Formats: sequence, structure tokens, C-alpha cells
Amino acid sequence: MIDPTRKILTGFSFACFLFVGCWGIQFTEIAEMNVWAGSPPSAKSTKAAGDADRGRAVFSGKGVCHYCHGIDGNLNQRPHLTADTVTLIAQLNPPPVDLRNSNVLRLKTDKQRARAILDGHPGTGMFPDTTMTNQELIDTLAYLALLRGEGR
Ligand code: HEC
Repeated sequence: MIDPTRKILTGFSFACFLFVGCWGIQFTEIAEMNVWAGSPPSAKSTKAAGDADRGRAVFSGKGVCHYCHGIDGNLNQRPHLTADTVTLIAQLNPPPVDLRNSNVLRLKTDKQRARAILDGHPGTGMFPDTTMTNQELIDTLAYLALLRGEGR
């Protein structure tokens, strides 16, 4: 007969292994991103690798950016949200900014934007996105450039 405790322990260490494995991947991604963020000459070529269409899917999908910034950055066009979420967003101070209007935007570089997305925008209600992959981030940045009218 299989000892149940042993079975649980085996399962547990396997879970740990998976967990550590995931962290390893996360760290590799972060390291890669830092390389990219820290070297301005290569920033342009990385920008070209971003796919604005995929960025749009992230923006209005798993990134839930559209909750606050609106569908396609249109603040008047929000997805269907629960009343609680609507109330919370309405209370944000400062309110979510119009990402299509470069006159009101304060961040000037993709490096700053990447940091705001990954770490959260300090002093605002914008929370960090901890699930975004490096590629999704680059795609989102390409999409944001498109919203500002800078994209192709
Ligand atoms: C909870 C609401 C909320 C969500 C969700 C959210 N944001 Fe924001 N965002 C804000 C607020 C509030 C600000 C700050 C506005 C200001 O500085 O006046 C902001 C600022 C920004 C800025 C900086 C604009 C500037 O001034 O240059 C960018 C870029 C941005 N958001 C992109 C995103 C992206 C991409 C996502 C999804 C990954 C996202 N936001 C999700 C609320 C949100």
C-alpha cells in the first residue's frame, strides 16, 4: 500500500520544483528586459519587434487596461464592469489619463512606461501588472505608441 504522507510529500516537492521553475523564467525575463531598458541604442529595434495588434489584445484582455483607460484608450468607452469596480475607478485620484492625447501624458519614454506598467504608476491608482510577459509588454508599448499617433 502507498503511504499517503509520502505521496503528499512527493506532490509537494514537485509543486516546489514547478514554482521555482516559474521563478527562474520570471527572473530571466526581467533580466532580459533590463538589458533592453538599459541600452537606449537598441530601444528602437526592440520597438519594431512590438506588435500593436497583439498589444491591443493585451490592453483590452488580460492586461485589463481598458477597465480604466477605456476600449482603444477611449475613456468614454468602458467594458461592462460591476458597479463596485465602476465606483472604485471613479474614485481614482488622479483619474485614468487619456492615453491617446500626448499633450496630457507625462511619461516620455518607453522605459518609463514599461516601469509604470510592471511596477505600477507611483502616486496613482494604477496597480502593477505582474503577469505580463516581456513580449506582451513590448507589444503593449507598440500599441500605446499607436494610440498616441506615433505608431505605424
Ligand atoms: C486601476 C486603473 C488603471 C488600470 C487597470 C491601468 N491604468 Fe494606466 N493609469 C491609471 C492612472 C490613474 C494613471 C495616472 C494618470 C495620471 O498620471 O494623471 C495611469 C497612467 C498610465 C500611463 C502613463 C501616462 C502618462 O502620463 O504618460 C500609462 C502609459 C498607462 N497608464 C498604461 C496602462 C496600461 C498599458 C495598462 C494595462 C496594463 C494600464 N495603464 C492599466 C489607471 C489605470
